[in-house]
Amino acid sequence: MNSFTGCEGELVARLRDSFESAFPGAADFSKLRVLPATDPKFGDFQCNDAMGFARALHQPPRKIAEAAVAKLAETLSAGAADPIEKAEVAGPGFINLTVSSKWLASRLEGLGADEGLLVPQVGAGRKIVIDYSSPNAAKQMHIGHIRSTVIGNAIDRIFRALGYDVIADNHLGDWGTQFGILIKGYRECLTQEERDNLTVANLEKCYVLSSAKAKEDEAWKDACRAELVKLQRGDADNRALWKRFIEISIGEFDRMYAKLGVKFDTYRGESYYNDTMPGVVAKLQEMGLAVESEGALVVNLESEKLGVAIVRKSDGGYNYTTSDLACVQTRVAEYDPERIIYVTDARQQLHFKQWFSIARKMGYTTQLVHVPFGLMSFAGKAISTREGNLIRLDELLSEAKRRAFDIVKDRGGDEALAEAIGFGAVKYSDLSHDPITDIDFDWDKALALEGNSGPYLQYAYARVQSLLDKAGSDGSSGGIVVSTPAEKLLALQLLQFPGTVLRAANAYKPSILADYLFQTAQLYSSFYQSSPVLKSEEPVRTSRLRLCAIFGRVLGKGLGLLGIQTPSRI
Ligand code: ARG
Repeated sequence: MNSFTGCEGELVARLRDSFESAFPGAADFSKLRVLPATDPKFGDFQCNDAMGFARALHQPPRKIAEAAVAKLAETLSAGAADPIEKAEVAGPGFINLTVSSKWLASRLEGLGADEGLLVPQVGAGRKIVIDYSSPNAAKQMHIGHIRSTVIGNAIDRIFRALGYDVIADNHLGDWGTQFGILIKGYRECLTQEERDNLTVANLEKCYVLSSAKAKEDEAWKDACRAELVKLQRGDADNRALWKRFIEISIGEFDRMYAKLGVKFDTYRGESYYNDTMPGVVAKLQEMGLAVESEGALVVNLESEKLGVAIVRKSDGGYNYTTSDLACVQTRVAEYDPERIIYVTDARQQLHFKQWFSIARKMGYTTQLVHVPFGLMSFAGKAISTREGNLIRLDELLSEAKRRAFDIVKDRGGDEALAEAIGFGAVKYSDLSHDPITDIDFDWDKALALEGNSGPYLQYAYARVQSLLDKAGSDGSSGGIVVSTPAEKLLALQLLQFPGTVLRAANAYKPSILADYLFQTAQLYSSFYQSSPVLKSEEPVRTSRLRLCAIFGRVLGKGLGLLGIQTPSRI
């Protein structure tokens, strides 16, 4: 247990009041904190702040702690409303707090009674844009794309759960020099049959062939450039081809998104901003932000140690920076979001720092957030285009399904179950790491039924469902009593769900939620091992079933926020 957002607020408020009434106006008690107890023997939480007030109050910490605890004792009520049952001073001035079981039970009732599990609706009436996945057209998605898609989608789901009005935009790489190479390659490197049955795989093939030729043959290179210029000028044939390439690419991407349960509100690629880029550059010049340098137009960001950002190349073309600036202009004008979140690999950090800085200088006040993620390697091998050991996302997902099927088939599992487990395993192995870390994907770890894995959590979920089935109850009614230490630990943990969702959003780290779910499942498992449920006498039986049911709902909702399915049978 690392944070107590679930109930720490109420404990802090009670304690602060006690300090204030013991020492009215004598110090600033607003920063008072409670922490999880280092040893459950001493209580559930502790407050170590009396030491910090010794100087201001001219008293030894122990005296301060005792005075505050005495005030607290005066107001402790035996009713369900009081979060604190017992407060004791220990050592030089630690205050150990024991949480009231009645209060815990009533808070848990509140959690169970709320369909949304009390996830705070802090986003109500607030609009944000999340830009994620955003693969480049005419290339197959490889496993490097999986992180943006999976992390971005989890962030998307988490923000929606918090009540935000989210616009999920897929900012496809659908414009740029590669299209000259592709058009030339399409016309000359593919057979008629391949042209008639154009697939992303064929597009990729003609790109590889054509760009290889461009490297050794100047004339070919010039021809590619000429095709690009024709496309940019609006030549009807080239435009039609480009459009076809994009449509085929999106069709292929959508097939992956359907498997992954990912949906976008808009698919506005870079090309969407072609017409507005010149205006953005003109504005930068007017504002005196962009200046000519060796034929190019640049914004100097040296004073912020961000180097120099080109906004118009010496050949007159625009680049990634220009297109992101044009894109933010449109998003702000159209949606007026309070925040825009970009999920890309960490190698793009400088790009985002640069253009965020330019956008601020242009006067944009929308909060711009880059969520960078580390590299994903596969059995120790980097996934790099140049090395040619690309693992296609499609292949990865098929393999995940195949391996999961081997696990579930003996239990009578079908293809749908294999997909739920296999894809869940792939997603969880990504989401259980802080996005910024590099991760090495490992099949055995990802698919393990024990340990910190997707299947372990899915299995825990299915087991609770079958327990409830056996009990013939959905565990939604009857009183909750929290009495044993295992019940108390589980109850405290479950109460932290709403705060954990909020923390994961604020930090843009779905891993915070994943960690929490794993810890919760472990606490549940020790509760379950030490506490008979079905065989208990009433009212304990009903109360424990309710704990189990709330655990199931927390786990189910939490996995749902990570985009992981929760089959009720495994
Ligand atoms: N297409 C880019 C890539 O594949 C990601 C685009 C991210 N979004 C943005 N607005 N720059 O790396």
